[in-house]
Amino acid sequence: MDPIKFQVNGIQCSVGSEVSSTTTLLDYLRNILELRGTKYMCLEGGCGACIVTATKGHGEVPQGVNSCMVSVTSCQDWDITTIEKIGNRLEGYHPLQKTLAEQNGSQCGYCSPGWVMAMYSLLKTKQMTMLEIEQSFGSNICRCTGYRPILEAFKKFASDAPDPHILPDIEDLKLCDKTGEICLKRNCEDSDWCFVSDSDMHDVNGIKSIKLCDDRYWYRVETIKDIFAIWRASGDQSYMLVAGNTGKGAFPILEYPKVLIDISGVSELKGYSIDQNLIIGAGNTLTEAINFFTAMSTHEDFEYLNVLNDHIKQVAHIPVRNLGTVAGNLMLKNKSNGFPSDIYLIFETVGAQLTIVSAPDDSKIITMQDFLKEDMTGKIILNILLPPLNASHKITTYKIMPRSQSAHAIVHAGFNYKLNEAGVVVDSRIVYGGLSQVFTRAWKTEAYLRGKALFRNETLQGALKVLNAELVVTEALPAPPVEYRRQIALSLFYKGLLSVCPQKILKSRYYSGAIKIHETRPVSDGKQVFTTNPTVWPLNKPFPKLDALIQCAGETKYTEDVPSLPGEVYAVFVLSTVARGKIDSIDASKALRQNGVIAFYSVADIPGQNTFTPPISIVHPKNEELLCDGEVKFFNQPIGIIVAESQKLAEKAATMVEVKYINVKAPEIDIREAITDSAKVTLAGSFEATKVGSDVFKIIKGANTIYGQYNFPMETLVCVTLPTEEGLLVYPSSQFIDSVQRTISRLLNLEQNRVDVFVRRLGGGFGFKISRATQVCGACSLVAFKLNRPCRFIQPLTHNMRAIGKRTPCASNFEMGVNAKGEIQYINHDLYDDNGYIYNEPIVDFGIELYSNVFKNQAWTHKSYNTVTDTPSNSWVRSPGSVEHIAMAENIMEQIAYELNLDPLEVRLSNLDREKHSSIQEMLNTLKSESQYDERKVAVDQFNSENRWKKRGLRYSFLRWSPVGPIYFNVTMSVFRDDGTVAITHGGVEMGQGINTKAIQICAYLLKIPVEKIIIKPNDTMIAPNSCFTGGSITSHNIGIGVRRCCEQLLARLEPVRSKLNDPTWEELIQAAYESDIDLQVNGFVNTADFQAYDVYGITLAEVEIDVLTGEWEIIRVDLIEDVGRSINPELDVGQVEGAFIFGVGYWTTERLVYDKSNGELLTDRTWDYWLPQARDIPQDFRIYFRQGSFSTDVILGAKGTGEPATCMGIVIPFAMRAAIAAAREEAGIPKTQWFQIDGPYTVDKIAYFCKNKLEDFKFY
Ligand SMILES: Cc1cc2nc3c(=O)[nH]c(=O)nc-3n(C[C@H](O)[C@H](O)[C@H](O)COP(=O)(O)OP(=O)(O)OC[C@H]3O[C@@H](n4cnc5c(N)ncnc54)[C@H](O)[C@@H]3O)c2cc1C
Ligand code: FES
Ligand code: FES
Repeated sequence: MDPIKFQVNGIQCSVGSEVSSTTTLLDYLRNILELRGTKYMCLEGGCGACIVTATKGHGEVPQGVNSCMVSVTSCQDWDITTIEKIGNRLEGYHPLQKTLAEQNGSQCGYCSPGWVMAMYSLLKTKQMTMLEIEQSFGSNICRCTGYRPILEAFKKFASDAPDPHILPDIEDLKLCDKTGEICLKRNCEDSDWCFVSDSDMHDVNGIKSIKLCDDRYWYRVETIKDIFAIWRASGDQSYMLVAGNTGKGAFPILEYPKVLIDISGVSELKGYSIDQNLIIGAGNTLTEAINFFTAMSTHEDFEYLNVLNDHIKQVAHIPVRNLGTVAGNLMLKNKSNGFPSDIYLIFETVGAQLTIVSAPDDSKIITMQDFLKEDMTGKIILNILLPPLNASHKITTYKIMPRSQSAHAIVHAGFNYKLNEAGVVVDSRIVYGGLSQVFTRAWKTEAYLRGKALFRNETLQGALKVLNAELVVTEALPAPPVEYRRQIALSLFYKGLLSVCPQKILKSRYYSGAIKIHETRPVSDGKQVFTTNPTVWPLNKPFPKLDALIQCAGETKYTEDVPSLPGEVYAVFVLSTVARGKIDSIDASKALRQNGVIAFYSVADIPGQNTFTPPISIVHPKNEELLCDGEVKFFNQPIGIIVAESQKLAEKAATMVEVKYINVKAPEIDIREAITDSAKVTLAGSFEATKVGSDVFKIIKGANTIYGQYNFPMETLVCVTLPTEEGLLVYPSSQFIDSVQRTISRLLNLEQNRVDVFVRRLGGGFGFKISRATQVCGACSLVAFKLNRPCRFIQPLTHNMRAIGKRTPCASNFEMGVNAKGEIQYINHDLYDDNGYIYNEPIVDFGIELYSNVFKNQAWTHKSYNTVTDTPSNSWVRSPGSVEHIAMAENIMEQIAYELNLDPLEVRLSNLDREKHSSIQEMLNTLKSESQYDERKVAVDQFNSENRWKKRGLRYSFLRWSPVGPIYFNVTMSVFRDDGTVAITHGGVEMGQGINTKAIQICAYLLKIPVEKIIIKPNDTMIAPNSCFTGGSITSHNIGIGVRRCCEQLLARLEPVRSKLNDPTWEELIQAAYESDIDLQVNGFVNTADFQAYDVYGITLAEVEIDVLTGEWEIIRVDLIEDVGRSINPELDVGQVEGAFIFGVGYWTTERLVYDKSNGELLTDRTWDYWLPQARDIPQDFRIYFRQGSFSTDVILGAKGTGEPATCMGIVIPFAMRAAIAAAREEAGIPKTQWFQIDGPYTVDKIAYFCKNKLEDFKFY
């Protein structure tokens, strides 16, 4: 019998023993109900693609939850709403879906349903202001848009929006089946959906349970007594109390224990009460805790709860807080004392205690410190006792995160000082997390402070010495280095005191240290300035992607949305666990013995060539092996494929394959170290100086290293392959379907014409899916071929990050002589690119010409070297080559400016090649006046002189970007005789850039018909054979050329018919042409002869503020001007520019890859510790200007590429940060002319460290 009942979109559902312990609500929605509008990526609560709205029971408020975190068996009584329900093609779209689409907030669209559902859920809870809306999206990631348009869309629904959109809430108007009145789902025990009769449940010892299909027992209990009864019956060796089930986001669970006890219905763990303490049930969710604290904070002795609430609001994000409980969080800390639990931290700060129940009638109250050591086996946290604390307690807490929201703490701290009226410390609690397993309280510092007047410089200095001596900070990769975290810990102590120090004592310059920088962030703003010429519309007309609305409604299909197929199997790679060594043996027998595991394949099972890269070419000079051929090249190299009946089983079985290695060696993974070994380095290209100068005022040497970046498309690498009559039908998430076809053909010895590859759209690509997707497609097709069954290969995020190369790290060494104006007289510049273990897709081919950016290069001797390291083959990431080369050149300009104490803009202008790059000066003039540069420069200097602990930096970066890449595309256009509608198919791949919309605009413009008459059909190898990859920002143009050719041919064929008719309508013309035996299908072919050369120029000015004590930052304002030519669609191009810029910002600020150097293992392999910028990390004020009057070439209708170039201008942010850091260092006595090297990214810990604060400078007055 099926015992768990719930509703999805008004339909009653039930689950029971047919599901397993790992079946989530997401799995159920997508795979059982085939509701594939809900997307997914990380499966750990970190991306928001899977958000749905859930009402957890009678009278509860609807809330957004991450469906990937929820066990479907936890959904008893839930009422779930998915994207399909709130609006769709049949019933009409929801205002949120429409507004997000209209505001151009959906590019690839993969994230869009998650955003809509998050916002939908929020608006179900309460009316929100614009600021509240902006603060509520730590839950969602968008890699494409740069967030500005999404926020713009949602803010329209704010209560304080200029013209607020009001939501007619259809859901709330639903009538009750029984009463016929509006159903609020309260007091409706007799309604069918929410009632589960006892007879539906198995009865084990009087407690309801289900035996799940993976031999786990699921119990749903209502009392604590029940929990003990279960433990008595089944033991307490292997169990989990399932509350929100979100703990797996912090500590992934591959296999659940035997006994799973759903405690979400235990009322004793819920609610709150008050005796002298406030007692809150440990089973309350974090959201419930916030609500109770808000209610209680009006009581005098509990005002401090407001401080706790501010901190809890920094834990995870709203949908996780709607699920995760207080006890669940504390238990993560109990199990791993090093876990940076914010809940532990705040409770320890206020001296809370816990009630622990170890038997139905046996409980004890323990301190938070004792809880750390408590063996919790067979015990339950019942509640938390929060003491009353009056105004004599000065309480403050801090959480230093790598980005402004939704990340665990790098270091966090809580301070609670009880002071007497004279400001003398009666008692204190100084609590830290993120430093080490053992250090949570600064006992000695607390003892030192007792009896001392707190706000005296001597007390502070003395305490800092004691604290510095007692802090225990240990290395814990991937956490930042010990000395960085120590610096933050000490600074937080000072910051905490500044924030409670009476203002009359504080010197005004120090007040800036008391302020939390993110709390100063206003509602963000933006401006997009471009012109449009209505005489050529629909060309040059700004409007959103034509698919945007269906993307926002979850109606668009991506690879993994192919419905479940009969007999399908799932496959994943088995990864090596050494970086270098020889495979001695592989034993998959243990994995294969698992019920449901079907096969294991190694290199020996490949019938053809073991490679997944396209046949040898300039960009792929080497074949890369699909599966390791015996000699392991890098940590986590794919060495086999496991096939199973389900994805989760395949993932588990993959870890059970036993591999023995011999000759294991330590890897070399760092480019800076690899270049010292000449055997690893080869010269790739060089430019000799043609005219060196002799006016050498100073010789400057430098070394700069930049590291990798993960592409992070929201849709990971996925492939579905089906055996067909001819051979195979392949649905890949690939930017390069020709390569997929050829790889599979070579791998399987199958003729190319037997492999059909079909792609409709991608959930983002960013270069990741050009060559790297074929590895997954090859493996997937091998399985389908071998088993003659459909195969679904869904590469988990961790595998994507570990097994696949990333943006190419680079190291540069240089020596230059400059004159007094900073003009380079000579420079010897060596640039080393880290290709990974093999020399493929070298970025020198994509940027070497840019080595001097827009600066005079006659004095430059530049050499580019290819280097190999024991890492995956590095690959293309948005704007490959250009980002790296431009960063190096721009960095040189900055270094000159610092060393000579010159204005970096003047240094750039002294070196500017005005002849070749004359556009720059004109664009600079525009930007300078639009951005009020001169006034703001003065204001920044003034800000810096007035504030000791906050500093601002204002900096420029210049850009030159030129298109590169091969071209070979087919475009086919068919016109239908009855209504004259047009369908186009082309060899490009839509992945968010708007290629299809632009193709339609060009077609409509040339044929002079409405855009509504034209659609784009998906791309496949039959109709667009031998196509190049989509990438390099040039595919839209090339498809445009093909569309133009098609239109010209068609118009030529139609002309004789047209001339016989009297001004026919389009429909009449087509009908007549058909009747005149005219072929209404045309083909446009585009090849290398169509290559268009042009330069894209850009200038960005950024103003950044940093917190000198913590390294946290805010981007105050960015003004960016780019020459986009005459854009085909300025609105789409604004989206490309903004998205690209934020992509670059991520690279330079938060996106940090950390490896274990001893074995080469990547330690930042998931959303828990690889941080993309989020909505609150973008510029507070983001202004985009398109250069006026620009036009590239007529062949491409005047437009220039926009997808990549602005990525290169992200470098402006670290420059502005560096300026702010330099201002702080100057106050610490370090001259501005002293160059300091920060190898990117500029993470908060590095910023704080490089400010070089001295403890003796920490003062009140
Ligand atoms: C994306 C994401 C971001 C996060 N960010 C942060 C962050 O910034 N800071 C932070 O501190 N935390 C963070 N967390 C952790 C989050 O707070 C916890 O996952 C959550 O609170 C756990 O609660 P739960 O109810 O889901 O626990 P579950 O996952 O259901 O259970 C976790 C453990 O607690 C045990 N347990 C549950 N209830 C009880 C009880 N009453 N008595 C005894 N044992 C019990 C279970 O047996 C299990 O071992 C994050 C989590 C995610 C997914
Ligand atoms: S898939 Fe659920 S949050 Fe990422
Ligand atoms: S549109 Fe947001 S990830 Fe692509």
